[in-house]
Formats: sequence, C-alpha cells, structure tokens
Amino acid sequence: MCGIFGYLGKRDDALELVIKGLQKLEYRGYDSWGVTTDLDGELFVEKKVGKISEANLDDFKDKKTGLAMGHTRWATHGGVTDVNSHPHFDPERQIAVVHNGIIENYQELRDELGKENFVSETDTEVIAHLIAKYRKELPFKEAVLKTIQRLEGRYAIVVMNVGENYLIAARRGSPLIVGIGDGEYFLASDIPAFLEYTQDVNYLDDNEMVIVDGGVEFLNLETGDPIDKRLVNIDWQAESAEKGEYDHFMLKEIMEQKETIHRAINQDTDEIMHIAQQIKSSRGCFLSGCGTAGKVCMAGEYFFSMIAHRHVNFAPSSEFPIYHHFLRPESLLVVISQSGETADVLEAMEAAKSKGSKVLSLVNVEGSTIARQSDFSLHIKAGPEKAVASTKAATSQMALLLLIATAMIGELQEGRRLLAEVASKINDILNPRFLTYIKSVAEAIKDHENCYIIGKAENYPMALEAAIKIQEVSYIHAEGFAAGELKHGPIALITEGTPCISIVANDEVKQDIISNTMELKARGAYIIGISPENNEAFDEWIKVPDVGVASPLVNIIPIQLLAYYIAVLRGLDPDMPRNLAKSVTVK
Ligand code: M6R
Repeated sequence: MCGIFGYLGKRDDALELVIKGLQKLEYRGYDSWGVTTDLDGELFVEKKVGKISEANLDDFKDKKTGLAMGHTRWATHGGVTDVNSHPHFDPERQIAVVHNGIIENYQELRDELGKENFVSETDTEVIAHLIAKYRKELPFKEAVLKTIQRLEGRYAIVVMNVGENYLIAARRGSPLIVGIGDGEYFLASDIPAFLEYTQDVNYLDDNEMVIVDGGVEFLNLETGDPIDKRLVNIDWQAESAEKGEYDHFMLKEIMEQKETIHRAINQDTDEIMHIAQQIKSSRGCFLSGCGTAGKVCMAGEYFFSMIAHRHVNFAPSSEFPIYHHFLRPESLLVVISQSGETADVLEAMEAAKSKGSKVLSLVNVEGSTIARQSDFSLHIKAGPEKAVASTKAATSQMALLLLIATAMIGELQEGRRLLAEVASKINDILNPRFLTYIKSVAEAIKDHENCYIIGKAENYPMALEAAIKIQEVSYIHAEGFAAGELKHGPIALITEGTPCISIVANDEVKQDIISNTMELKARGAYIIGISPENNEAFDEWIKVPDVGVASPLVNIIPIQLLAYYIAVLRGLDPDMPRNLAKSVTVK
C-alpha cells in the first residue's frame, strides 16, 4: 500500500525524476500523490487527489533541484483529499515526511503533541511533528532516530529537512530499497522506480535506518549503531517493468505466461528437492497465502493429494494465526506471495515461528520481507508483475507446487516434462484468434450484473480464482463454487441468461461437472465451457489443451483474458482497479 520515492544526487531534475519513478509505483496506490523539494531554502510542495500518471511533468521543469521525494497513496487513515496526501509536515513546515504503513499509536502521539496543531487526518503527520519536537534539543539525525524509536506499527518512511542536503529513511514491516547509482541515491518502495538508473541495491531490513548524504550510512534503529549491508545486483531489465507494445500491464503479463512457466520450473534441482524433502519430513504441513496466492495454495492441496498422496492443509493467511493450536516445532508452513510483502502473510509466519515451526516461501520479489524472513525461499522468477490482478505469478506458483509434488515421489523429471508441455501449449493458445474469441465472449456478458463459475477437484480453486479476477477488474459480481455445491443453495441465483462459466477438465470428475453444468443450463444459464472437448451443455466453448493434472494452469488463462476484456469493454482500467493496491501491507 502506497509507494514512496526519494532521490539525492547529481541531476538537477530530481522532481521530474521522482514523479516518473512514482508513476512506476502507481500500482501500489492511486488515490492521490504528492512531491516536495527544497528550492533554495524554500519548501516546494505539490499534492493532488488522483493518479500520478496524470501529473504534467512540464509543470516541474523549471524547478531545478538535486533532492526530492514523493508518495503515491492508498488511503488508510483519513479520506482521499489533497490535504491528507503525503508528504506531511511539522507546523513550521521545515520537516517533510512520506510514509507507507500504519502508525498504530498515532492517536496517543497526536494527544501528546496537541491535536489542534494537526492539519490532516492521517497517522503520518505525527512523525513530522514529533521530529520537530525533538529537533529543539537534538541534532536532526538524532531527532529522527528518537522519533522512530517511539513509533508502533509498520512503516517505511523517508524524511527531509529544509536547508539540509540529505534524506533519512527507516523501515519496519514495509519495504524500502536503496538504489546506489554513480553519485546518486534512490530510496523507493520497489525497484522499478529506479531500475533505469541503477541495478545495484541495498535492501533495508526491519529496524534499520539509512542516512543518504553523498554516501550511505546504515544504522540499527534500536541502538543507533552503524551496520554493514551487502550490495545486491538485480538481474531485471528496465523493459521488463514497462508495458511495451501492450495497452495494459495485465494483458502483457497474461501473454508472458508462455515464458514465465519455463523460468519457474528451470529452478535448481537441489532447491526443489530440499523443499520436497522438508514437506515430506514435516509433521503437519500448511500452505498459506492471500487472494490469488491463497487460491494457488488450494490448488497445491490438490496437487499434493493427487500426485504425492500427501495431506497438506490450506488456510488463508488472515485466518492462519488461529491455527497456532496445531503448530509444533515439527510443523511446516509454506507461504506463497507474489510481492513478498503481504502483511497477513507476515503475520501467519510470525504465528508459525512463535511455535518453533519452520517457514518456507515461494515469492516473486527477490529480497522481499517474506523471502528474507523465511527459513528457505524459492524465487518464482516471473519478473515484475505490475497489474493489480495477479496472473503470471499465479501460474508460476502453481507450476512450482506441482513440480514439488512430483519431486516428492521421485518424479521431478516427469514433472518438468509435463510443465514444459504446458508452457508450450500455453504458447499455442495465446494466439490472435483465441484472443479475439475471448473478447467476443466478453462482449456477450459484459453488461450482466452477475456471473458464476463452477469447478471441481483441482479446478475448484480455479473457479474461486476466476471470481477474484472478474470481480477485481470488471466490478461484475462474480462467485465461484464447487460444482457439486450448487444444488445446495446457489442454484437459486440462476435465471434466464445468467452467465455461468464451467471449468471441465478431462479427468475422473468430468461426468459429474457436466451433470452440474446441465443443471445450470436447465435453469436458463448461458454456459461458457472451458474444456478440451465441446459439450452440448456449452453455449460458448473455449477450447483449452488437455494437460492432465496440470489443467488448472491452462484453464485459468482464458478467464484472466475474459476478465481483462470485460474491464476494457466496460471502459475500466484493468491495471488499477478501484479500492485496491498491488501490495497489501496492512492487516
Ligand atoms: O503479493 P501477494 O501474492 O501476497 O498478494 C496476495 C493478494 O493480495 C493478491 O493475490 C490479490 O488477491 C490480487 N489482487 C488478485 O489478483
């Protein structure tokens, strides 16, 4: 939630650079934005409700400066207004702060500092006021350190002080990365903000602070002592975080699935075997994630059961902490996350660690908090995923879970062969004719208010995932069901013409789900069948390849496309759906 970006260096167009960087972080929040700099001892500030992609760079061209910072907001405390946008300031407007996270003790600090002195409704403003208070008796850097030591909650913050040429940043629970260029420094919530300038980074860890002033100095937040950090070279290319020839990141990322599955499965064999072995030797294995990653975990439950005959339990991360009663040192938690920063997942990990259980993770963002706080982490290598709707990360995560299941029974090579075939068949289906057909189906259902999706066995989680995809980008009410559950209630929702998607794999439950599909059709539903074979129950048939137990990986792709096209046809922006943000760093 929220993107922050600060720059200090040799360029004199720091304001424009910060705005361009924030535009690359817009997926983290797009309620409002703000930037600030020090222009010859005078604070310059611009804050606006709306998307930073709509900012006009020409308005900033004459503001020459080598230091600037800014923020793109996903509102938590305080409505979506100009005044609640970051940066926030002390009463004298000498100290500016941008913040990602939540300061839990902000009410108490507001009372202490005098409520009447605050201009915004945010939790963030207390940081600037508190620094100003300590500034009266301490040097600025010490005042910042003392302030941060009093904050409770999760945060990444960047602070500047008018008249002083440096930035100070700190983190606890929200990401912050330091990009080290040639005579220039970048502080950002995510790497794409500065990827075109440098690939050398230091990840700031929890309870660390960095002072950027023509060099970088890292400090421990609790003791104030200096610490050494390892410089990491990122192997992403700047173009991988750009839309390129596509209108939207969502479409680009769907199309990339021809390559991303290959990258996911060509992992180091020892690492796959290590995870397989850990799952095998655990006593009580749990899979956990949120949203789409949670549905991937559910698919994993089926893969482990069908392929490795091994029982693993799925729990959404927001519910997982209550499972602590079942956790022991021999238990294992495997968490899945694209961003590696999801707060609910981090809390699930804390619950497991508090019982001495081991935590493994599959993440897309290397160096992310979840990756670093796991006992062992596997990188899914899907490349930057910028659209809020998760697509390529989900199929890569499923591919890895399936591969691990095959490794557990000594059939890793067979698993790799199957998944290579899946990747090649995805390459075949993602052709212009297929896309045109999906678009025509989207046209047929785009004006409906409801849409239902049914799946069975390993495709039941895909019915749930399909509902998330359609809900979040098209705003149509969509619900996924286990096909056999329809007759126990949901079938009452079906009326003449209600669009229903039926995911029918060529598996042992095929006849059952066909019967359920017929039950829907008999009540007037308009049936969109996703299946390797046509059936009289289908009004529309989306043909997908038959890839056996890996069917969820191919079946979800037309639904991702369908959700995308419905959004576009309804005039919506699929990359930045309302009320959402890519990375959910609040509980
Ligand atoms: O970064 P994560 O994979 O941990 O994110 C989890 C969910 O927030 C995420 O999958 C969300 O549900 C997506 N917007 C769905 O497309």
